[in-house]
Amino acid sequence: MEKTINFTVNGQPVAVVTEPERSLLEVLREDLELTGTKQACGEGKCGACTVLIGGKSAAACVTPVAAAENQAVLTIEGLAAGDKLHPVQEAFLAENAFQCGHCTPGMIMAVVGLLNEKPRPADADILARVDGHICRCCGYPRILKAVKRAVAQGARQS
Ligand code: FES
Repeated sequence: MEKTINFTVNGQPVAVVTEPERSLLEVLREDLELTGTKQACGEGKCGACTVLIGGKSAAACVTPVAAAENQAVLTIEGLAAGDKLHPVQEAFLAENAFQCGHCTPGMIMAVVGLLNEKPRPADADILARVDGHICRCCGYPRILKAVKRAVAQGARQS
């Protein structure tokens, strides 16, 4: 049965009338037209659909929209402050850490989530966080350089 689910997306309040078990990814992409969050595996195994819920990273494809009720959801579209990119976005640009770009929003959101939890993560923390993120272009060396750059920038900001 459909229900009204209230939450915020990128700081804006939304009220979505939907089946509560629909995936957050589907609601973001189809109902709210926020297509920056990508779908790939659809099974919670590749990281492409990562968003932040209450500041913590989550796979939106396996998260029912009901889990976002009364929560703050952040997607890649909400990361920049106007024209100013988030430091993690800047780091990915600086290192050319993308090719087709399909995995990039999820990677970036995962790193932002990591920095929220641990402003100075160890290398092991970084590897553990991006370990499940699949890049079909195999751009892992540049991605790791970007993540390390982002972590250094994050550390400088905190
Ligand atoms: Fe959600 Fe792969 S599309 S984890």
